[in-house]
Amino acid sequence: MEAISKNFFLFLSNNKLLDRFAKRFGARFGADKIVGGETFSQAIPLIQKLNRDGLHVTVDHLGEFVNSEVEARERTHECIESIHSIAHHELNSEVSLKLTSLGLDINRDLVMENMKLILEEAKKYDITVTIDMEDSTRCGDTLEIYRELKEKYKNLGTVIQSYLYRSEEDLQALNECQPYLRLVKGAYKESGKVAFIDKEHVDKNLKRLIKTNLVNGHYTAIGSHDDAMIAYTKEVAREHGIPKEQFEFQMLYGMRNETQKELVKEGYKVRVYLPYGEDWYGYFMRRLAERPANVAFAIKGIFSK
Ligand code: FDA
Repeated sequence: MEAISKNFFLFLSNNKLLDRFAKRFGARFGADKIVGGETFSQAIPLIQKLNRDGLHVTVDHLGEFVNSEVEARERTHECIESIHSIAHHELNSEVSLKLTSLGLDINRDLVMENMKLILEEAKKYDITVTIDMEDSTRCGDTLEIYRELKEKYKNLGTVIQSYLYRSEEDLQALNECQPYLRLVKGAYKESGKVAFIDKEHVDKNLKRLIKTNLVNGHYTAIGSHDDAMIAYTKEVAREHGIPKEQFEFQMLYGMRNETQKELVKEGYKVRVYLPYGEDWYGYFMRRLAERPANVAFAIKGIFSK
């Protein structure tokens, strides 16, 4: 049953017709519990509240299915504006983005140009930018772009997904560029040709990646709500004498709020990933796929509008 609902929501997340429908009718379907508003201005009070609670933030301007150069440039401009707002309001926040929203599916020169514009602005204010990882067909290009840009920009991170067979090798290959990596399980629908399908292997591989990256001495973000991954990270840190300054826990906005606060109390750095924007549909569907319990508030959302 769980597998069926997961596949169903992942199928919906890729449905461009429903994406257009959701945007056109502006229905929120309960998305406001996990999305910080439709504009950056709406997200500002939420970021300030999270900061007051001792939480760091990374904002993500939601956007997928960008197919025109004009739209990719608009997304770039919006991202730069969010960097200016972070600096202007003195928010404790980084920025996350997806390369497809900057034109990855259009052409590589366009993405590089857009990324450089963003990274130059972020550098001025010492703000780190993390490139989210999308589905496996984009993984190779994303990591190549990451490596090329990382030579010039220190303030750049990316994501490695433990469900992909290739990830252990990718992690080793990135070793020499002092990567800033967020390690996650992976959120897209992938085939058994490229990814572990069973949870046990995905979890085991995430533990392996966490340990390798920490022991290699690199700053590591653990992007997971799973108590087992949190406990494992603490254990590796203890065993290998890794200081709390070398890693952080990252969780999605609206998920495990109490756990986030407990970790802060224990002296760990916790960063909340706060998505915002009108284009919330694909993100929302992937979260439903991960945790069918989230369906409850979505259904409530539909009927309360
Ligand atoms: P998982 O879904 O495996 O659940 C394991 C256990 O954790 C559950 O059985 C339950 O006990 C507990 N749990 C999980 N969620 C809970 C909740 N909401 N409330 C209570 N308990 C809960 N993916 C990707 O492909 N590319 C990316 O760039 C990113 N970026 C990213 C950033 C951040 C900050 C996070 C947290 C996640 C991502 N992801 C991602 C998503 C990631 O790949 C993964 O799909 C989800 O985090 C779900 O996996 P978890 O490890 O969180 O727990």
